[in-house]
Amino acid sequence: MKDIISMNDMSKEEILEILEIAEKIENSSEEEKLNFLKGKIIATLFFEPSTRTKMSFESAAFRLGAQVLQLPPLEQSSVKKGESFSDTIRMVESYSDVIVVRHPNDGAARLASTTSKKPVINAGDGSNQHPSQTLLDLYTIKEEKGTLSNLSIAFVGDLKYGRTVHSLVKALTHFNPTIYFVSPKILQMPTYLIDDLDKNNIKYEILEDFRDCLDKIDVFYMTRIQKERFPDVEDYQKVKGVYVINKENILGKCKEDMIILHPLPRVDEISTDLDETKHALYFKQAKNGIPVRQAMMMKVL
Ligand code: CP
Repeated sequence: MKDIISMNDMSKEEILEILEIAEKIENSSEEEKLNFLKGKIIATLFFEPSTRTKMSFESAAFRLGAQVLQLPPLEQSSVKKGESFSDTIRMVESYSDVIVVRHPNDGAARLASTTSKKPVINAGDGSNQHPSQTLLDLYTIKEEKGTLSNLSIAFVGDLKYGRTVHSLVKALTHFNPTIYFVSPKILQMPTYLIDDLDKNNIKYEILEDFRDCLDKIDVFYMTRIQKERFPDVEDYQKVKGVYVINKENILGKCKEDMIILHPLPRVDEISTDLDETKHALYFKQAKNGIPVRQAMMMKVL
């Protein structure tokens, strides 16, 4: 495995292997970990805003003894002078051992991987894929539920532009899920992903109200409506705030052990009054980004 670009490229065995490596890393001492990537340089190229993915890849690398090389802020880099994405990748390839890239364009990470002889990890490309998020989502689900198989999962919110949903749905096809897609009509899952579910005989329902599946699900995967990806801001205004969960509409209406995940950042779709409940796993989920991203870097190296 040279690169990690899309969940479409990963087999069930490869997914489980990364989760297993992550667990082993978590169980290693801090001192041991410092030798795992000693002498390696990880380049983080973020052409789009990020808090969790960028900082957790960098923290993950430091904690394994690697050094981190960041692309300067876009205003101060030669991107500002018009340097192409491919030329940037060709340069960074010679400065580092692994390239972690986030970009607003679908397919940018794939392009980077074909340009670079060094491993490339996709840290999110447009509305397409976000494999490191998916692997930490799976790690969290497995940790909480003890299995990835035969679970009922609702994806709620922006299913059209949400790359975390696209990646995770693809990965779940290996684990016989029952899926509920809950969104306004204009934010439904892309047809190519629904076709893929049909091809793999995955059970799913398309809904507009999460209350229609709330008592049946093991995992409630909430997402932000992604304002920045709407071509027409008026369309965003129509669906802004369409789903908000809080203690009142969740507690006592779902399974006792249902977990709520969210890739974060949230805006207003999860009320902070849920944060201290047993259902809220989204901060733990983000924290799991460290061992999972460590496992990904170790795997490609
Ligand atoms: N979940 C996620 O990708 O968060 P960031 O955009 O903050 O990296």
